[in-house]
Amino acid sequence: MRHEEAPAYLIWDLLITAGVTLAALNIPIQLVFGDHDRPIFVVIDRLLSLLFTADIVLNFWRPVRLDGLVSREPRRLARHYLRRGFGFDLLAAVPFRLLLGVTPLLLLRLLKLARVIEFMRRWRHHKVHQAPVLRLGFFVFWLGLTAHWLSCGWLALRGVPADAPEMSAYLQALYWCVTTLTTVGYGDVTPTTDAQRAYTMLVMILGVGVYGYVIGNVAHLLANLDLAKAHYLANLERLSTFMRYRHIPPPLQRRIYDYYAYLWENRLGYDETTVLAELPPSLRTEVSLVLKQDFIQKVPFLKGASQELIRDIALELRPVVFTPGDYVFRAGEIGRHMYFISHGTVEIISADGRHIYTTLSDGDFFGEIALLRSQPRTASVRATDYCDLYALDKDAFERVLRHYPDFARHMQDMARQRQGDETSR
Ligand code: CMP
Repeated sequence: MRHEEAPAYLIWDLLITAGVTLAALNIPIQLVFGDHDRPIFVVIDRLLSLLFTADIVLNFWRPVRLDGLVSREPRRLARHYLRRGFGFDLLAAVPFRLLLGVTPLLLLRLLKLARVIEFMRRWRHHKVHQAPVLRLGFFVFWLGLTAHWLSCGWLALRGVPADAPEMSAYLQALYWCVTTLTTVGYGDVTPTTDAQRAYTMLVMILGVGVYGYVIGNVAHLLANLDLAKAHYLANLERLSTFMRYRHIPPPLQRRIYDYYAYLWENRLGYDETTVLAELPPSLRTEVSLVLKQDFIQKVPFLKGASQELIRDIALELRPVVFTPGDYVFRAGEIGRHMYFISHGTVEIISADGRHIYTTLSDGDFFGEIALLRSQPRTASVRATDYCDLYALDKDAFERVLRHYPDFARHMQDMARQRQGDETSR
């Protein structure tokens, strides 16, 4: 666990978010209703000052990511915090109520919302797979707060009727705000002064923006709830349009769809090579080893091989899939790759197509003779079911041969044995 994401920090961030939310709800209410002396308000205010002060102390030594690395160096952390965020945090923590009574200065507590924004950004970054849901959750949070503030603003402009209970006055303001924000506008609560009219217009304009944002985001969210699937379906749709446009025969289309269905079921439609290509070299080697771990265990001569050989080969192997009945290559073709079978079975068929020499399956390899002897393929190879193969191209094969004599010996022995088998038939 990286330090900056430790669960204790997450809990602390949630506590701060709860505190700021309480302040954001409570302070405008106090200012509008002017009902300051309720013990609950006084207690909340003192607790918030304490909480925000503790947060300032914590922030001086809380590890943060600087220039891509988590820093724990106290001087660097302090300098970073003093430059970013300390000013806002300090203003938010000052107990203005205690020092000056209830004044609009209390609104300075809301500067702490910057911390909430930062926290949400970090959260979304770390929980990428929940990003759409988090985005919706955060949007509802901000919309709720905005509606509350706008309602308080409306109450401040209209004045709170002396005879109406506070709750009822607030609900009426909230009702006005929601109908205006959502552009429903029943018109039963209407502005009566110029200031109220201007305010209503502002809220209406804001409402149009919110409406557009909601429609756009909900559509986006639904489409992307399962990004992998959305990506796969989009690919398939493009492919189907292309095949119809180019009149690909239906049986061939069927095979293409089957191939994609297989890819989807086995690897969520991801192409390993493209994913690896986007990583920096050091990560690429490690991820590639993890991805090929099961496969390496299946190949007898790789199981006991040196780590260097495994690393070198793992980086060069490129996954390819063949569907049942596909020829991997035919006898007489020029050899450009050799293949390892990760999963599936293939038949080795004589050049005249009359004999099946053997069937090879998980952990076996083929196609080495043409590369070793620089001659055409000695046999055809056909997949009998879905085959996950790893291809090693000629250059990489020769490089590995040169650097690893054991590997070269093993390949030579196997080629000799197989060619012997063929000639003895
Ligand atoms: P290559 O000649 O490049 O292409 C056909 C491949 O089939 C060949 O390399 C061997 O890897 C493999 N092969 C040929 N004959 C046999 C056999 N008798 N048993 C197993 N594999 C074979």
